[in-house]
Amino acid sequence: MKNIQVQPAEGRLGVLVVGLGGAVSTTFIIGTLAARKGLAKPIGSMTQLSYLKVGKGNNQREGLIKDLVPLASLDQLVFGGWDIFPDSVYDGAMHAQVLTEKDINLVAEEAKAIKPMKAAFDPNFITRLNGTWCKEGKSKWDLMEQLRADIRNFKQENNCNRVVVIWAASTEAYLPMSDVHADLSRFEAEMKNPDTKLVAPSMCYAYAAMKEGAPFINGAPALTVDFPAMWQLADETGTPICGKDYKSGQTMMKTVLAPAFHARMLGLAGWFSTNILGNRDGEVLDDPASFKTKEVSKLSVIDSILEPEKYPDLYGDIYHKVRINYYPPRNDNKEAWDNIDIFGWMGYPMQIKVNFLCRDSILAAPLALDLVLLSDLAKRCGFKGIQKWLSFYFKSPMHELDEVPVHSLFEQDRMFRDKLREIIGE
Ligand SMILES: NC(=O)c1ccc[n+]([C@@H]2O[C@H](COP(=O)([O-])OP(=O)(O)OC[C@H]3O[C@@H](n4cnc5c(N)ncnc54)[C@H](O)[C@@H]3O)[C@@H](O)[C@H]2O)c1
Repeated sequence: MKNIQVQPAEGRLGVLVVGLGGAVSTTFIIGTLAARKGLAKPIGSMTQLSYLKVGKGNNQREGLIKDLVPLASLDQLVFGGWDIFPDSVYDGAMHAQVLTEKDINLVAEEAKAIKPMKAAFDPNFITRLNGTWCKEGKSKWDLMEQLRADIRNFKQENNCNRVVVIWAASTEAYLPMSDVHADLSRFEAEMKNPDTKLVAPSMCYAYAAMKEGAPFINGAPALTVDFPAMWQLADETGTPICGKDYKSGQTMMKTVLAPAFHARMLGLAGWFSTNILGNRDGEVLDDPASFKTKEVSKLSVIDSILEPEKYPDLYGDIYHKVRINYYPPRNDNKEAWDNIDIFGWMGYPMQIKVNFLCRDSILAAPLALDLVLLSDLAKRCGFKGIQKWLSFYFKSPMHELDEVPVHSLFEQDRMFRDKLREIIGE
């Protein structure tokens, strides 16, 4: 194993969040500000709470990941970002109603001071929102140049040594990969085409981040940074990238249960997943084009776990259905139902029902925190391109075109811990 030289986590780390005023972003930022003052616990964060075992035999020992691995500390983080509405993090959190007013007020002054920069937006990609705080630009290339300037200015004004950019903005309409995404020079030419329908705003953020040397994290299921032209750019600029789509609630349960069926050689006939949610994310996903992006992401998880080609009798004919229903009264408090039809000895059928009453953004916020700290670590380790060891955090882990992604939560956890040990030379 070759030794990894890790640059120290010195100075301030800028965290630029796309979709700054949204439910996930504001919950993440307010929780982090409160945690670093000792006013809240960062529950759900592996980097802050989980132990890592290192060493062998008599030398085996364990410590908190944040103590063993050279991560930036919460005190070093400086928050900023973009949104298509001008609300501060404070106003966004009050609007999202994930956290109570009492909890938001723990860090009211700081949250009021974090205001978004104007966004790169294109209504063709998110039809349900009418942005009022958006940049003007002749082309996507022009918008991207403005985003690059934003990153540079933020870094300078806030005296940051490094910056990470994380997408926690709405899910864009489904866009399949096409020829222009296959090659960097073709993609750059397309960015300059004022009428392009093939370059989404999220791609402008990802491109700008990489050009400024900032790792880019995609918390939504859109194409964004998951195509060969972007992988080429990540390689050329030496930038770590990861995605797609935070693995927070229903899919997390799916990637826990499917490995159990597989381990016990129980068959699966069907999996019907439905849920209701009423936040802005739910409203955007009510549009069929945005839902399609999410559906592809949610449907992708079980095949690689169950290996239907190897076990056709058990998994060769699965009916897998995913529904998301916009239902305003529930706001961020999603309710998910899974009906799972399994079969056992001599083919006898059985059913499992999972009813998960979760809080979407409460589950997603710690993932955002970890991904920021770990992507910054990856950059300081000199890693570039797709960070497969961060698959743990995503519904659709990015992977090369000819590769099968790892979806099992347990397998992903092992990959994550092995990489941390490798980084610290254990
Ligand atoms: N909450 C979860 O558990 C979870 C899990 C997986 C993925 N996600 C994804 O995370 C994203 C955020 O979810 P949320 O619940 O916070 O949604 P939200 O609607 O509350 O927030 C999204 C924010 O993005 C802003 N926005 C939209 N387009 C933008 C653009 N081009 N530039 C800058 N800002 C833009 C919106 O104005 C809004 O403030 C969604 O894509 C969602 O699908 C969420």
